[in-house]
Amino acid sequence: MAEEIEDTVAFDVEGGIAWVRFNRPAKRNSMSPALNRRMMQVLDELEFRDDVGVLVLSGEGAAWSAGMDLKEYFRETEAKGQGAVRKAQAEAYGWWRRLRWYRVPTIAMVNGWCFGGGYGPLFACDLAFAADEAQFALSEINWGILPGGGATKVVVDLLSMRDAMYHALTGELIDGRKAAAWKLVNESHPLEGLKARVAEVAGILLKKNPVALKATKDAIRRVAEMTYDNAEDYLVRAQEAANSFDNEGRKEGIRQFIDEKSYKPGLGAYDKAR
Ligand code: COA
Repeated sequence: MAEEIEDTVAFDVEGGIAWVRFNRPAKRNSMSPALNRRMMQVLDELEFRDDVGVLVLSGEGAAWSAGMDLKEYFRETEAKGQGAVRKAQAEAYGWWRRLRWYRVPTIAMVNGWCFGGGYGPLFACDLAFAADEAQFALSEINWGILPGGGATKVVVDLLSMRDAMYHALTGELIDGRKAAAWKLVNESHPLEGLKARVAEVAGILLKKNPVALKATKDAIRRVAEMTYDNAEDYLVRAQEAANSFDNEGRKEGIRQFIDEKSYKPGLGAYDKAR
């Protein structure tokens, strides 16, 4: 039976968390043009919903994502000419960019294979948690291309130069534990405990002020490329902009600490419900 575009991505929303899944398990969740198109639609649908405070991206079956679909994204698209190639790139890079600047914090829950083009969405997620059993590789070198689609930039930004070079030149697999040691992901856990840990982290984030979360995640990505002085200036303006959106939450945070003494900001978040 032909694959419907709607089937390429699965999602459900529960308790403030949008659980989004690459859903081409028979193709190891490789990213076809249809999947890329569908993922942008899903991100669009979820981004501004009141019941979504965190988005988790994982994969159905044995893979997180086996990277770009070599048949549909590369071979069949290239056969249609350069315009088709550029369109397919725009659709893939487009949803990764959307995810990098998403309204809510995002977590990559890497349950299995993660190859090549998969590093784009991996980096786009603010946090990443892998199964010990997950396997990562920049496999491009194994079939004769360089790690494009941002993958080279991702490893240079996240890994040491030596590890990035070794990873890209050899195409060797690393497991979740090594990915965590290399800081490609935050943490690695046995697969059976992975979802519980991710839900726990999502729960921590859901307690925080959402305006502050968005301002903070953007600031972390933006200041990475700034001089100290430019960062200082950006942060002053970003704080003022956030305050104008959320004056009351911030004041409530100060009130519960200074007047009410009901929590300590150094030890946890203020009660958003009040
Ligand atoms: N592009 C297109 N099809 C892919 C794919 C990809 N990146 N990854 C897997 N598939 C397809 C296979 O062609 C196969 O299709 P078929 O059932 O129609 O023959 C199906 O998914 C299952 O793959 P298979 O190789 O049999 O699964 P496996 O569990 O033995 O191995 C991998 C899993 C991920 C190790 C292996 O599929 C692989 O090496 N994939 C390519 C990974 C890669 O280099 N990606 C980088 C792209 S930038």
